[in-house]
Amino acid sequence: MPGVNQTSVDEMLRDAEAAATAGVGGIILFGVPETKDSAGSSAWDEKGAVQLGVRALKKEVPELVVITDVCMCEYTDHGHCGVLKNGEVDNDATLELLSRAALSHASAGADIVAPSDMMDGRVQAIRSRLDANDFSAVSILSYAAKYASAYYGPFREAAESAPQTGDRRGYQMDPGNSEEAMREVFSDIEEGADAVMVKPAGPYLDIVARVKAETGYPVAAYQVSGEYAMICAAADRGWIDKDRVMLESLLGIRRAGADFIVTYFATDAAAKLREGST
Ligand code: PBG
Ligand code: ZN
Repeated sequence: MPGVNQTSVDEMLRDAEAAATAGVGGIILFGVPETKDSAGSSAWDEKGAVQLGVRALKKEVPELVVITDVCMCEYTDHGHCGVLKNGEVDNDATLELLSRAALSHASAGADIVAPSDMMDGRVQAIRSRLDANDFSAVSILSYAAKYASAYYGPFREAAESAPQTGDRRGYQMDPGNSEEAMREVFSDIEEGADAVMVKPAGPYLDIVARVKAETGYPVAAYQVSGEYAMICAAADRGWIDKDRVMLESLLGIRRAGADFIVTYFATDAAAKLREGST
């Protein structure tokens, strides 16, 4: 999938350098392990891709803020975001694994950990484990309002993380419900989240705006792989002007109230914005 693919640590470093040069402030890492098992135990492997990547980034591109995605779905052989019990995700048992993975990211040098699993209580579990290990300076960006969306397809393809059975509707949110998003956001803030994220971004701009207006918290919006892929595919066919649609899609997210945006367009957009401002 163009622009949505796995890279080695070395390739990632080159991308990160290009991003920093273009003026991007930070980078988020997702890990794809060599081996997957039912508990996702590669998630806290000190020699895992994310842990190695964070260490390399801190050494080679120290000006970038390093965020790590904390979830189990890339590491479990069944592809769910937590451990299973009788075929269902076991929320509470998963908290121990997520906080363990987050701690290993913090130990590697991550500035921000970003839990994307949607288990109840994960922000609190991660916060207390980080604090107990002298990582109170590591921030938590919670994927607070994460919808059960069809827009994650290209990512799941690239990360080989699609659920083998069932779907994620048990823990991700119902697209028709905005009150639930606000409840999730407030509970994550209460548990100690430093910033909250809405995902996907474009189809959920009303949620971005509400979260910003009702919390006053730093709000991130994640323009996901499917949003990116649609723009690229249409541009490839010559149907739309890629750069203009890219910037307009980001402008809309910003206008809705996002303080920062996670996007596959980051390096291209930063370069364009810089060009425009000189
Ligand atoms: C892991 C995770 C996903 C994405 C970010 N973190 C996939 C999912 O929930 O299926 C999607 C990202 C994207 O589409 O860019 N839970
Ligand atoms: Zn997941």
